[in-house]
Amino acid sequence: MCGIVGIVGNVPVAPLLVDALKRLEYRGYDSAGVATIEGDHLDRRRAQGKLVNLENRLKDSPLSGTVGIGHTRWATHGVPNEVNAHPHFSENVAVVHNGIIENFRALRDELSADGYVFTSQTDTEVVAHLVSRGLKQGLGAVEAAHKAIARLEGAFALAILFKSETDLIVGARNGPPLAIGHGEDEMFLGSDAIALAPFTNRITYLEDGDWCVVTRNDVKIFDINGAPVERAMQHSVGSALLVDKGNHRHFMQKEIYEQPEVISHTLSNYADFGTCEVRGSEGLPFDFAEIDRLAISACGTAYYAGMIGKYWFERYARLPVDIDIASEFRYREMPLAKGDLAMFISQSGETADTLASLRYCREQGMHIGSVVNVRESTIARESNAIFPTLAGPEIGVASTKAFTCQLSVLASLAIAAGKARGTIDAEREHQLVRDLTEAPRFANQALKLEKQIETIAHDLARVKHVLYLGRDTNFPLAMEGALKLKEISYIHAEGYAAGELKHGPIALIDENMPVVVIAPHDRIFEKTVSNMQEVSARGGRIILITDEKGAAETSVKTEHLIVLPDMPEILTPLVYAIPVQLLAYHTAVTMGTDVDQPRNLAKSVTVE
Ligand code: F6R
Repeated sequence: MCGIVGIVGNVPVAPLLVDALKRLEYRGYDSAGVATIEGDHLDRRRAQGKLVNLENRLKDSPLSGTVGIGHTRWATHGVPNEVNAHPHFSENVAVVHNGIIENFRALRDELSADGYVFTSQTDTEVVAHLVSRGLKQGLGAVEAAHKAIARLEGAFALAILFKSETDLIVGARNGPPLAIGHGEDEMFLGSDAIALAPFTNRITYLEDGDWCVVTRNDVKIFDINGAPVERAMQHSVGSALLVDKGNHRHFMQKEIYEQPEVISHTLSNYADFGTCEVRGSEGLPFDFAEIDRLAISACGTAYYAGMIGKYWFERYARLPVDIDIASEFRYREMPLAKGDLAMFISQSGETADTLASLRYCREQGMHIGSVVNVRESTIARESNAIFPTLAGPEIGVASTKAFTCQLSVLASLAIAAGKARGTIDAEREHQLVRDLTEAPRFANQALKLEKQIETIAHDLARVKHVLYLGRDTNFPLAMEGALKLKEISYIHAEGYAAGELKHGPIALIDENMPVVVIAPHDRIFEKTVSNMQEVSARGGRIILITDEKGAAETSVKTEHLIVLPDMPEILTPLVYAIPVQLLAYHTAVTMGTDVDQPRNLAKSVTVE
């Protein structure tokens, strides 16, 4: 999603804005720009494509202003070119925007009728003209901005700069996040604390409907009616963390390698590795024993984590789970019971559809729990109970370590729920926790398979379609594997429940169709073997990810065999995620795609 930065500073801010934008690159973008006040006029540099293009523009033609705004754009309205790149201007005003202005057509017609000429295809340009019109009508800068913001419908974060005001940026938030960074004799705005990390760790997050007046030495925050509001300043933890690739070629690879550590970190937040007990549900604003149903919703990878969670909650806690894609759930008008639990899973904690589903459930009187990686996020702030994943900042657009940390939380919570509901006894609890404590060790062993997987990826990089199959918790993992492959390598891939193969997808099988089968030697291994036989009989090429027992007992001919150690059942989706991620990663690297920022994708999806 788009990234926003603003600085009211004392030195030329353009290079600082670009540096901050680099820290927002992980959100995904297709063009970028900065604007500063240059003496008596506003000036901007914009470029299509990566930030290096903008840097080159600035090298050829620098900007010297000490107050400025910057933006990385992820196209919604209008193609990703320089004309549509932000900042957008209207005479005395420059604007950067994240989100969608839903009533932009009506506003554009109104402004066009008033003589305003639009130069871009974006929805954002209406904001610049609206503010500009207010100034022409004699309003002061802050008043004109407020009046314009009050006319906007939809989801937006904004930063507005005025030609005549060298000590002012106005910001606004309604949906996508916007944070104020407090400096000494300088002030900042940014989409998140990571963007502001080099400048400050003193952060104030705006809430929906807030707008703010930021000057070098002061910040004022108002609600949409113009009444002042207080928002707490926090010391951001995220900002202290260094965001770099270390020795790895890509953030994605680094994040795959971080998994043993972050899984261990996350699990230890929910279970005592010494006593082998889950930390239990004391202190929660709800009681798992009192809940009849659990409704989980999320998007993308987080949704697949939720699907795996469903198997665990139903298996260990006998708690029925409804699992939904958040964009469907929010409009599905599902009957929900007051007092039941709704759980939302989100790495960013800002995903628009997930947040809308949360708000819907809150209106129905449900308890709200969220599994989030960003504790200061909107989803976290609007939940009754936060279950953090301790993955650290995830920069690669393709989610990896956040996924396995989400699984770590869900497995622990399912055990805690089982304990509270009396469906597992102390012995079973200890065994399951002991099993979970082994996750980091097995994850480390899975990483050792990288070289072999790289070789297999060379073959995969030559095909057009791939099928992923799995059963039980490895069925959602098959879908996650397909999602990982398609998003970073652009190879078409689908994940299916292995038993569903003969109900349609088997028609696709021929000698050109690799089939990745995720099949640890579990209760239903034999069933998956039958499905592999169906594939093999039709000339399909099988890449089997299994364990030592599975490898020993497979009679089916495989093209490649990836063998993990035998491990407890509860661990398999957590650990098997690693070869699945590595396969997608190396296929994409072989194909030379932009692994960390794949085309068309955004890290934090703050629009519908
Ligand atoms: C895929 C991926 C996306 C996200 C989805 C939800 O690799 O990263 O599918 O999982 O956009 O994002 P969050 O978890 O931030 O709500």
